[in-house]
Amino acid sequence: MNQNQNKAPIFDAAMKYAKLRPAYFCVPGHRYENGPGSLLREYAGDNIFKIDITETGITDDLHCPVGAIKEAQELAAELFGADHTFFLVNGSTCGNQAMLLSAAGPGEKILVDANSHRSVNSGLIMNGAEPVYVMPEYISDWGIPGGISPAEAEKMFELYPECRAMLVTSPNYYGIISDIRALAEICHRHNALLLVDEAHGTHCCFSEQLASGALACGADMCVQSLHKTGGALTQSSLLHVRSSQVDIGRIRKSLAIVQSSSPSYILLNSIDTARRDLALHGKGMVRRAMELAAEARKKINAIRGLRCAGRELEGKSSVFCFDETRLVISASQLGISGFDLKAMLFEDHNVEVEMADRNNILAIVSYANSPEDIEMLVSALKSVAEKHADGIPLPGMAKPPGQARFAMSPRDAYFAKKKAIPWEEAEGCVCAEMIDISPPGIPLIRPGEIFSADILNYLKQIRLSGAYIQGLPDETMETVMAIE
Ligand SMILES: Cc1ncc(COP(=O)(O)O)c(C=O)c1O
Repeated sequence: MNQNQNKAPIFDAAMKYAKLRPAYFCVPGHRYENGPGSLLREYAGDNIFKIDITETGITDDLHCPVGAIKEAQELAAELFGADHTFFLVNGSTCGNQAMLLSAAGPGEKILVDANSHRSVNSGLIMNGAEPVYVMPEYISDWGIPGGISPAEAEKMFELYPECRAMLVTSPNYYGIISDIRALAEICHRHNALLLVDEAHGTHCCFSEQLASGALACGADMCVQSLHKTGGALTQSSLLHVRSSQVDIGRIRKSLAIVQSSSPSYILLNSIDTARRDLALHGKGMVRRAMELAAEARKKINAIRGLRCAGRELEGKSSVFCFDETRLVISASQLGISGFDLKAMLFEDHNVEVEMADRNNILAIVSYANSPEDIEMLVSALKSVAEKHADGIPLPGMAKPPGQARFAMSPRDAYFAKKKAIPWEEAEGCVCAEMIDISPPGIPLIRPGEIFSADILNYLKQIRLSGAYIQGLPDETMETVMAIE
């Protein structure tokens, strides 16, 4: 490891500035620790406010870096193997938006993973492009999205050779990593860029047991939420570029649109110091998380009626690699939905997990968890399983319908007039809101797509089963939003 990785240029600059402590006539107006909300200050202490400063000759400027921020971004680029790394203070959300703003324009077609985060849809509203969705495979045993199949990507490029980019989410929320190397080869052969939403995968770059990170596998750009698995504060993320085909000037301009003109120095410090920790200790940190997760998985799989997914998922449903730090746990054999299990764990056992769908809960294990945390999770699950030992297994769910047909771009749908209509009358109408059902967590239909009989029948079944549907205008689920 390059000795320079020991440095933290933004932190050093902040310390220098905190020592100088000039009479301050700039924003933020709290003047170091003199004026922030008193309750917060009492709780947090003074130091954090001393580094909530602004662009100066010492602290540099995120939008035009020439000093400490430039050096810190270069250190991050070196660590992650990028040509350029940009610090993000508005999460991977703004990273996805910037990637899309730079990769496609109004009316241009772009291949997009159907299992994309909502920030991808907002990026498409911004760039005005026409998405062609690529469906990931479906892991029916768990009811969760699998990986993007290279064969499917190849087929889509043959159908839409005008696409100059493809955006893929890998790992997905459930820890499913696609074969990025194969996808990059296909994109490049079709003269297109591969953009990877790697929001959940920062830690993959520091483990030999997991697939290498997206950049190392040939992606042209990727975003990583350093705050999700890399130890940084919420909203701290990275956008990496490794390609001669990416217009860096356009990336900079896009970032100037989607990032605040007053980026938080607390977050910039957090990115800089998290990068340093990952450089110095990243492998050990990820190993620790993997060991804790392996211990939890073994114990959970020994509880009657429960199961926890593992590496047996690999090699099927286009799962290239499974991130073992994700605990996908199902109690559906005991008749308990993921939603109910999540609520029971929190309300009765003080255990909080990341999310739930109809079949599963998802617990994310990090290097910062302790063996005691794992013990609490396992014993809470044991207690729930014992209490519901006589439960009747949940019925299986129908396979979701295929991709809806395109009618207008997300941007046109966003600006169009909309109205609520009874869902029985919706066939052939253009959808105005994203309708999201868990599982599989992939939107059933998006703004600008046409309601088909298949989609409406599936929606009907889902309504009757009582599952949770997001994106309907009324709680009774009697209507859907359509373009007028
Ligand atoms: C797959 C995916 N991409 C992007 C994002 C947005 O990341 P951030 O919260 O860093 O803005 C999320 C957030 O959960 C996500 O799950």
